[in-house]
Amino acid sequence: MDLLKQRIQTDGLILNNSLLKVDSFLNQQIDPELMMKIGEEFVRRFKDEKITKILTIESSGIAVSVMTGLILKVPVIFARKRKPKVTGDDVYTAKVYSYTKGESNTIMISKQFLQPEDNVLIIDDFLANGEAAAGLANIVEQAKAKLVGIGIVIEKSFQPGAQKLTAAGYRVESLARIKAFTNGQVEFL
Ligand code: G4P
Ligand code: NA
Ligand code: NA
Repeated sequence: MDLLKQRIQTDGLILNNSLLKVDSFLNQQIDPELMMKIGEEFVRRFKDEKITKILTIESSGIAVSVMTGLILKVPVIFARKRKPKVTGDDVYTAKVYSYTKGESNTIMISKQFLQPEDNVLIIDDFLANGEAAAGLANIVEQAKAKLVGIGIVIEKSFQPGAQKLTAAGYRVESLARIKAFTNGQVEFL
């Protein structure tokens, strides 16, 4: 997606040669128009699937997921990383290890929001090691729903996530695929 790649080139900052900071449009300040265009692109790529739910994880996956859900007129569910007080015990959980943070989180969603009849599209902002997406996919499987694919805004292709998920049989659609950070520049695949 050229518009997204251009935005990464102009606004992205590379930290420690491994992390891409995109706080100005995705991770802190959000550009709603760009989020909507990203939503449209996910809808275009998955147009042959009868998606009934979008599943993401708090917090940065939510904005783009809501845009996608708005176009498709389907609900958006986000997994929690901490159990809210009002959430009961009737939850699906999965363990997600974050290499970036060096800690494990148990993610959860209430069972009532996923049914076996659902066709679920998982969406997330970044794909690095694939732990978050794999945890979400695991929850879809626990619910016996159908996983139609995984939509990613920015894939860091030099990390193992995309390959792991593809090898597990999931369809992964990433809108910007980063091959490497070279001399302070982003190189796309
Ligand atoms: P994984 O899910 O693919 O295994 O990723 P990892 O554990 O490495 O990443 C943990 C967190 O860091 C995730 O956000 C992920 O989106 C984010 N992340 C990974 N690589 C980058 C990067 O290059 N740039 C930015 N900006 N973020 C990156 P999170 O902790 O779930 O936070 P949030 O969704 O609340 O923002
Ligand atoms: Na995320
Ligand atoms: Na993030």
